[in-house]
Amino acid sequence: MALGPALLSMASAAQVRSGSPGNVVISSANGLRACQRAMEVLRQGGDTLDAVIAGVNINEEDPEDNSVGYGGLPNEDGVVELDASVMHGPTRRAGSVAALRNIKYPSRVARLVMERSDHIMLVGEGALRFAKAHGFQEENLLTDKSRIAWLVWKANLRDSEGHSNWSDGLDAPVSKPSAQLRQMFPEVDESLLAWAVEVATRPPTGTITCLALNAKGEMSGVTTTSGLAWKIPGRVGDSPIIGAGLYVDQEVGAAGSTGRGEENIRTVGAHTIVENMRHGMPPKEACLDVLKRISRNYDQDLTRLARFDIVFYALRKDGAYASASLWSGRRQREAVSTRKFAVNDGGESRLEDCAFLYERK
Ligand code: GLY
Repeated sequence: MALGPALLSMASAAQVRSGSPGNVVISSANGLRACQRAMEVLRQGGDTLDAVIAGVNINEEDPEDNSVGYGGLPNEDGVVELDASVMHGPTRRAGSVAALRNIKYPSRVARLVMERSDHIMLVGEGALRFAKAHGFQEENLLTDKSRIAWLVWKANLRDSEGHSNWSDGLDAPVSKPSAQLRQMFPEVDESLLAWAVEVATRPPTGTITCLALNAKGEMSGVTTTSGLAWKIPGRVGDSPIIGAGLYVDQEVGAAGSTGRGEENIRTVGAHTIVENMRHGMPPKEACLDVLKRISRNYDQDLTRLARFDIVFYALRKDGAYASASLWSGRRQREAVSTRKFAVNDGGESRLEDCAFLYERK
């Protein structure tokens, strides 16, 4: 009996693959366009690392993606600091940069670290000098939108009297914080202000990870991010840490992560997932196992675990793939939206549901 399209899609999600898998790209939910572009590169016979980097460059240059590259939310000083890593399966090489300022495409710099240095990771000033030595131009990565969100965050930092040095509450008191914000930003529209308040009070850790497999069985991956919003300058998350935010083993598969990097670094999530798959776990179970380790680090205390989320993505060498998050979804005002991830296995990119460890009520 032939499987219809819906059942075929379920079969892939259920990690059943046989024969030559063909080209497969997966990424975090912000990567629909990234998967599409990566698939185009693969279709033209391009290398898997070229494909994933071309894909995530879309997010790195998109001012509307506030978790990656240009337009990313800044550190506590209002400076955008970027982290990225790449791994190339066929040559088993890796490169990464961390706390890189003023360069829009950290994934490309990470690749240059891999290809044109005898090192794997460069950080901060050294990474910037390395990028400039290779012709990258410095530019301001802080968009007006991100700057306003940063100012809202600063105005929200108040002492026990409710006073903030970054708002005019003493000279010209207003009764409600929302009225104060309106007074501070008269030119900013309501939806932008509401978004700024949301990210100021719940600092996001966005990120994009993108993993690719081509018809020859070659694999690569990239993870790139502006990291945790309002972080202490110099904070490095999981994205540039080989084995945490990204790991590729040409013989087994690839894994990446988005979400709260500190939890991932403590479990070396991507490497653990690839090792789990090496020992026979299907991609979904391999991801869930790491989420269980994270939960164990908090003694399964759901109150503390509810304060963050983290998502893993796994692509096995035979084309089977999965993604799993700690929580079933994100709370957005009253509703909980189901976590998704992006997939392209030859047609249009689509979103599929993530598996999850705990259901968000
Ligand atoms: N996963 C992104 C970060 O924590 O920086």
